[in-house]
Amino acid sequence: MSGFAYVDGELRAEDVPLSALAERFGTPCYVYSRALLTGAYRSYDAAFADMPHLVCYAMKANPSLAILDLFAQLGSGFDIVSGGELARVVAAGGDPRNVVFSGVGKSDAEMEAALVAGILCFNVESASELTHLAAVAARLGVRAPISFRVNPDVDPQTHPYIATGLKESKFGVAVSDAHALYHRAAQLPSIAVRGIDMHIGSQITELAPYREAASRLLALVDALAADGIPLDHVDLGGGLGIRYRNEATVDIADYAAMVRTLFAGRRERLLFEPGRRLVGDAGVLLTRVRVLKPGETRNFAVVDAAMNDLLRPALYDAWHGIDAVQPRTGSAVPWDIVGPICESGDFLALERPLALAEGDLIAVRAAGAYAMSMSSNYNARPRACEVLVDGDAMHLIRRREAVAELYAHELRLPSRAPR
Ligand code: LLP
Repeated sequence: MSGFAYVDGELRAEDVPLSALAERFGTPCYVYSRALLTGAYRSYDAAFADMPHLVCYAMKANPSLAILDLFAQLGSGFDIVSGGELARVVAAGGDPRNVVFSGVGKSDAEMEAALVAGILCFNVESASELTHLAAVAARLGVRAPISFRVNPDVDPQTHPYIATGLKESKFGVAVSDAHALYHRAAQLPSIAVRGIDMHIGSQITELAPYREAASRLLALVDALAADGIPLDHVDLGGGLGIRYRNEATVDIADYAAMVRTLFAGRRERLLFEPGRRLVGDAGVLLTRVRVLKPGETRNFAVVDAAMNDLLRPALYDAWHGIDAVQPRTGSAVPWDIVGPICESGDFLALERPLALAEGDLIAVRAAGAYAMSMSSNYNARPRACEVLVDGDAMHLIRRREAVAELYAHELRLPSRAPR
């Protein structure tokens, strides 16, 4: 058995009943399936087997060391956006030479750390960043490998907070500025121009925006080559969506076929930065019903997970599937699945028809991406533990925080002398 499925009336992670995990590790708890993680990586990677390429997992989606380790062993590179993420890659045993560094606000210290580590490429997002990077590299006596992240100005048709390739977005440099920037970069002795990059948004469910954006990039690549600035790689970013509810998703084979057509006869190596697609479906958030509060207008099921554990519903109105771990027979009523936090926005799901009793276990689906990674300690809540299931083996990959750890870094004011 692989993934999450019902066996004998109970939802399992691979061969382990979720109730056994709740028993052993407590709730709330993130549960990941090794088989699903491996399968998602392999199918993405295999889709491009006939083209020179590197998959750079966008680790912001889920930066767990165990998951980074797993992907590194499968041959993955990594897309990072901070010095902290670089340190995580190294701590997990990943190879910095397969790392690309994105982000609009890299500090000089982060640039230095990445140069010393010897990363594959900086995805430069502004003229100012180029100047800073050139100075840092010159000081270290090295050449910084770069791409410009070009903003192709296409609408990825996704939630406005996660669309990144429109003109009004803060990301990347405009196509119209890119040409001059490449020329400038090519003159800088501490800069090595290597590639070009785009990332147009997240949870994208159509191919057309990719085709449009990639075509714009390739026109630029050809113009640069004609000017004597050949590029080694083209980074198409990430963004492929998953099915949370009933979205149409892009089949990886169709995406690869589109890329194959666009790149027919070309020589550049392809880079990809998938995040959600590699981990989203591979995790659930396991939580227990604490209190049922049926009411005149709404019924609330208060569970022990909250918006601090899973922010997506509150932040993006995101829809996640909710399944009872051991479904009851009996009549279902619509429940709002809410957390114990003091905010009306603290909900995981609204109006879900379920037959519930206090103490029941619930699985929040598709919680492998941007779930634990966006969690916080709001309301002084320790963050959930994380468990990776591999067949019938359960591996605790992050223990639950202890309350005292939440304020361990804080300092009280010096006591004042009495007046
Ligand atoms: N590359 C860059 C430069 C990115 O900024 C991102 C995501 C990715 C790759 C990976 O995108 P993906 O393949 O996962 O779509 N918190 C939001 C998603 C934010 C995405 C940020 N950037 C959510 O929960 O939906």
